[in-house]
Amino acid sequence: MKDKSAPIGVFDSGLGGLTVAREIMRQMPNEKIVYFGDTARVPYGNKSKETVTRFSRQIMRFLQTQEVKAIVVACNTASAYALEEMESETELPMIGVVKPGAVVAAEATANGKIGVIGTEGTIRSGIYSRYIKELNPEAEVVGRACPLFVPLVEEGLWQDPVTDEIAKRYLSELIDIGIDTLILGCTHYPLIRSTVGSIMGQEVTLVNPAYETAKELKELLKGQGLLNDAKTRLGDNCYRFFVSDAAEKFKGFANSIIKYGILSAKVINIEEY
Ligand code: DGL
Repeated sequence: MKDKSAPIGVFDSGLGGLTVAREIMRQMPNEKIVYFGDTARVPYGNKSKETVTRFSRQIMRFLQTQEVKAIVVACNTASAYALEEMESETELPMIGVVKPGAVVAAEATANGKIGVIGTEGTIRSGIYSRYIKELNPEAEVVGRACPLFVPLVEEGLWQDPVTDEIAKRYLSELIDIGIDTLILGCTHYPLIRSTVGSIMGQEVTLVNPAYETAKELKELLKGQGLLNDAKTRLGDNCYRFFVSDAAEKFKGFANSIIKYGILSAKVINIEEY
């Protein structure tokens, strides 16, 4: 039986998964986190399934060396391509960001028209549509890749005319189709939620998979008796960050979205795992 006080392993292709880590911190303040961002090999969104799966396996092996009690695949592209294969390779409870978002969208829609925005890989995989149709076979799911959103967010252009303009172009087709629910199917998109929301209009429900994943993770841990009931004090080494490159850039971005000062991110050679 795993130790309840062990950390949760969270990984992403880089910085974006911090939106998921942030939700875990908010919803489960007693939990410790070991975060890995694959900053040397980002982006995953335009890579093949084979490559993303190979990278994800290496990260899973690294996180296992950190004695984690569960693994969160905080990257939509890795969840789309690699989660199902990896789940069968470990005893650890594992959760990705796709299914929790898909479940909530299937419940939220009234007219059955759901949009999904994400990386090219996530949209190409068709995974959101697959999960939604398992729950609601009548649903019409329309995917739209938005590859420029990731660099715009990483440049800090969260509220900027350039981002507005690009978003209008990406989202116009979804508006024309008349979707009533939109999944923010990429780690970075919750950070431009207000831009997307104002273009889509108030009638469209935005689903944030980061939030839904943390909620479902809590249930999963509770169900397995793994929720940490002992109070964790901040500064007790409770949040540890590892990256494969560019630790300073990671730290700067992390401190802009997470309220606890992130003192360090350690660079490791992920190819060794
Ligand atoms: N983390 C990725 C995702 O959620 C976005 C960045 C990338 O392409 O690696 O799909």
